[in-house]
Amino acid sequence: MPNRADDQHLRRLVTEYFGGGSRLRILRTTAAFGAPVFVVDFDRGPRHYRTLGSFGPSFGTANLTAPQVTEQSSMDLMYPAHLVFHYERLMSLAFALCERPVTALLLGVGGAAMWRFMRAYIPECAPTLVDADAGVMGIAKRWFYLGQPVVIDSAQRYLAGNTQHFDVVHVDLYNALGPADCDEAFWARCMDALAPGGCLAVNWADFATNRGVRPMAQGLEAAARGRDRETFYVTRHGFRDNLIQYLPTSGDNHPEAITGALERFARERRLPNRGRGILEHCVISTGFPIEF
Ligand SMILES: C[S@@+](CC[C@H](N)C(=O)[O-])C[C@H]1O[C@@H](n2cnc3c(N)ncnc32)[C@H](O)[C@@H]1O
Repeated sequence: MPNRADDQHLRRLVTEYFGGGSRLRILRTTAAFGAPVFVVDFDRGPRHYRTLGSFGPSFGTANLTAPQVTEQSSMDLMYPAHLVFHYERLMSLAFALCERPVTALLLGVGGAAMWRFMRAYIPECAPTLVDADAGVMGIAKRWFYLGQPVVIDSAQRYLAGNTQHFDVVHVDLYNALGPADCDEAFWARCMDALAPGGCLAVNWADFATNRGVRPMAQGLEAAARGRDRETFYVTRHGFRDNLIQYLPTSGDNHPEAITGALERFARERRLPNRGRGILEHCVISTGFPIEF
């Protein structure tokens, strides 16, 4: 547990970040995460939200060690199956880019936003859930409606022993230190886990300020090229949001196909607001979108 002074400091950071009317539900340390995590409820106009947060390094600022609130997952309390974060809506397009999503592997479950989305909008798709932190998964069950068993293991170890194939593989692996280490062997195993016609999607947060991201993303580019495949990227203009890297395996999936895939997906699945806004104001590129 954080000591009393730290605890008060962290509570203050949460209030400053989410506003005076926010209600902190829990604040606790979990084993694998490496920093205290919290659950907070807050309102934005008529909407009510619940967010799973943590305290991470402030990439892009002078003081890397000062804790900064980082949002790991969020839920609209009135519409729990809606994806609150734009990056999660982008990641959901892996289901649109794959021929027939019947199985999915979610590496990094957090507050289970993608699991709730899948259950509501792609109910025929069976998810396998993997997360390294049992404490965070306990929180997801208690506060975020997660109602399915989770494999508690690191994604790296899980993939090393995996022999199954999945139509969709999501990589969303963050703890207090930032993104998990994804090396060549990891990408090879992710690709081995993809069924023919499947799609891999990777979430890169802080990609414009954290210099560690680009080499990992380019590691996946190279691994894909080694199998005659190409990845592509989507992020919002301005580069302040997350970057999503896709690796579709069906032959005709050039980057621009994502626009038509979204239209089809939104229509067939009756996405909220007809999927409007998911690709609006976004850059689609075949190379990592910024140079350092
Ligand atoms: C940003 S959250 C995922 C949010 C999630 N996609 C959702 O739908 O709400 C990141 C999660 O990755 C998990 N994690 C971090 N490193 C990991 C690793 N190496 N293996 C497995 N899980 C990991 C953390 O415990 C955390 O729950």
